[in-house]
This record gives sequence, structure tokens and C-alpha cells, in this order.
Amino acid sequence: MRMTAPAAARNRDAILAVLLSHLPVTGRLLEIASGTGEHAAYFAAALPAWQVQPSDPDGERRASIDAWCVGLPNVTPALPLDATAAAWPIIQADAVLCCNMIHIAPWEATLGLLRNAVGLGAMLILYGPYLQDGVATAPSNLAFDADLRSRDPRWGLRRLEDVVAAADGYAVAAVENMPAHNLCIVLTRS
Ligand SMILES: C[S@@+](CC[C@H](N)C(=O)[O-])C[C@H]1O[C@@H](n2cnc3c(N)ncnc32)[C@H](O)[C@@H]1O
Repeated sequence: MRMTAPAAARNRDAILAVLLSHLPVTGRLLEIASGTGEHAAYFAAALPAWQVQPSDPDGERRASIDAWCVGLPNVTPALPLDATAAAWPIIQADAVLCCNMIHIAPWEATLGLLRNAVGLGAMLILYGPYLQDGVATAPSNLAFDADLRSRDPRWGLRRLEDVVAAADGYAVAAVENMPAHNLCIVLTRS
């Protein structure tokens, strides 16, 4: 059942460091687009005072998430959740985490993510590759962007400035440079 994404093992400690420096001591963490579930399991083990709710719209991935999280008392079964949905099947979260979805889904998924997260009153932490005005894009990210767009023209790296502009009700608390030309963006309620 367990799927693996090698990048998750490479980036999990850098993302965890951001979580540890920006999350309060305890709360409910909703993860959007949990994928294999390796992040959810790793973060739940490292944040035992947090209740972790993973999610993904894909059934095979939800089975993998649940398999990775077996035995972790602070993780609830993965929810079927499409960020684009008008209403999410959850009513409480203190923080929403979304890694590596924004560039690999239509822009409407980002808009749904921002709208629903702010509706929950939750802080929002985004991880992934972005374009940034005034910052040279790494060749590897340019190639990744071209590959994504060839696979689906609705996909592709987003401008950080466009995501922030669409984040009504949020203020940027931090933009952290991460390994391999990724960013972590911490948005708090404005
Ligand atoms: C590249 S994987 C990232 C998985 C994991 N977060 C990570 O960083 O390893 C992208 C994930 O986004 C999910 N996804 C795609 N479109 C979505 C949407 N509209 N709402 C929620 N998740 C979506 C996919 O099912 C997939 O699990």
C-alpha cells in the first residue's frame, strides 16, 4: 500500500524546521494533497501535540497515506479532499499545510486552497517551487515548468506574487528559501 516519493525524504526536515518555527505548541493540522503520506507520518511523529489530518483526492494515495500513518495516535484517516471544492469536508483546523500541489494542478485548485483555508481561520503554509519577480529562476525550475506545461497546459510554476495577491484575508509572515530552489510561504490571518 505504501507509495514512496524520494523527494519527500529529501525535503521533510527543511519543511519540519519551518513548521517548528511557525506553528504554535499544539493544534489541528490539515494537510492538503498529502500524496504518498510520508510527510504526514513524519510531521505527526515530530509534532505529537498536534492532531494531523491528511487528505488527497486520489484513492490510491489515501490508502498509502493511511498505511504510512498506521500506529500514529495523532493522525486521523486521510480525507477525500479536492482543494477546488466549494466546501471542504472539515470544519476545524488551526493550520493548513500544502506541499507541491500548486504547480501540478489547475490555478482553480490554488484559489480553492486559499479560499477554504482562510474560511477555516487557519494559517497556511505552502511548500514548492515558485517564480519570483526580480529573482532569476533556476534552470532546473524552468525545465520543470516546461515539462509540467507540456503534460497539462493548466499546470506550471506560479508567480509568488500572484499567489500572495489571491490570498485575501492573509498576510505574508515569512518566505523561506528552501533546498533545491523551493520556497516555504507562511501566511497568517490578516
Ligand atoms: C506532486 S504530489 C505532492 C504530494 C506531497 N504533498 C509531497 O510533497 O510529496 C501532488 C499531489 O497533489 C494532489 N492533487 C492534485 N490536484 C489536487 C487538488 N485539486 N486538490 C487536492 N490535491 C490535489 C495529487 O493527488 C497528489 O497527491
